[in-house]
Amino acid sequence: MSKPLIFCLPGQAELADALARGLDGERGELEIRRFPDGESYVRIQTECRDRAVVLAATLANPDDLALPLLFTARGLREQGAGQVLLVAPYLAYLRQDTRFHSGEVVTSAVFAEFLSRLFDGIVTIDPHLHRYRALDDVYTMPSRVIHAAPALARWIVAHVSAPLIVGPDSESEQWVQEVAEGAGAPFTVMSKVRRGDRDVTVEAPDLSRWQGRTPVLVDDIVSTARTMTAAVRQLRGAGYPPPVCVGVHAIFSGDAYQTLQAAGPAGIVTGNSVPHPSNGIDLIPDLLAPVIELLDREINAAG
Ligand code: R5P
Repeated sequence: MSKPLIFCLPGQAELADALARGLDGERGELEIRRFPDGESYVRIQTECRDRAVVLAATLANPDDLALPLLFTARGLREQGAGQVLLVAPYLAYLRQDTRFHSGEVVTSAVFAEFLSRLFDGIVTIDPHLHRYRALDDVYTMPSRVIHAAPALARWIVAHVSAPLIVGPDSESEQWVQEVAEGAGAPFTVMSKVRRGDRDVTVEAPDLSRWQGRTPVLVDDIVSTARTMTAAVRQLRGAGYPPPVCVGVHAIFSGDAYQTLQAAGPAGIVTGNSVPHPSNGIDLIPDLLAPVIELLDREINAAG
């Protein structure tokens, strides 16, 4: 059996290199650039006929990446790739999972259909599932999901003494509990009200029974960072020690990172599903086993 070929979208070579090392694969080359008029040029430069192919593409900025993804996946098929898997440590377009107002497009379902037609399988980390129970509810291709909670818990154990894990809202409770159990720490959740994209308030519970512990705020996505920022301000305002902020997906849109830093947390650390200066928790090794499983699954099905 030949080694898998690992391709990536522009700017994602670090992810592709890590996957190639971990999968004992070979790096495939492709050229993607923009014409002056904004259209994409895509050329598959490595022979991929009958090879198992992994496309490394974390999907922060999904609108910019959608057409390059389409052209690349179609190009790989045209060149005869045997199997094309998508490894997207961050998977976008899961928030609009219902029609809140008439006329709204349920973009999560459309995006899932778009990707499911292009790829033979997807591996991702902690997709933002709320009304969907599992990715399989909307993705018709095989999917594997990695949970970042154990890696977050290990980081907390190694870096924070006497932590108290704090979730931003009741929705996060189950996930926060998993992190807390992994870290051997108590946990609590705040109550959050979001009135708009950038209008978030949170209410801190009474933490006095955990005096002497360092609050560790954990969240799956840090996007505008309004949630984390409000939580840091709330905790500090109530006289608790500055919390450590731990997030899985470091989206940090616009000036979100600077805003959060200005709120005065004890530190900010994120997983490396989205490249960012705050990355401090390596999640990529956890992707390897499910990728191998999906590659084998196809081979076994063919045999
Ligand atoms: C919400 O359900 C998520 O768990 C996060 O709390 C949310 O996505 C954070 O968004 P932002 O950084 O924009 O406040």
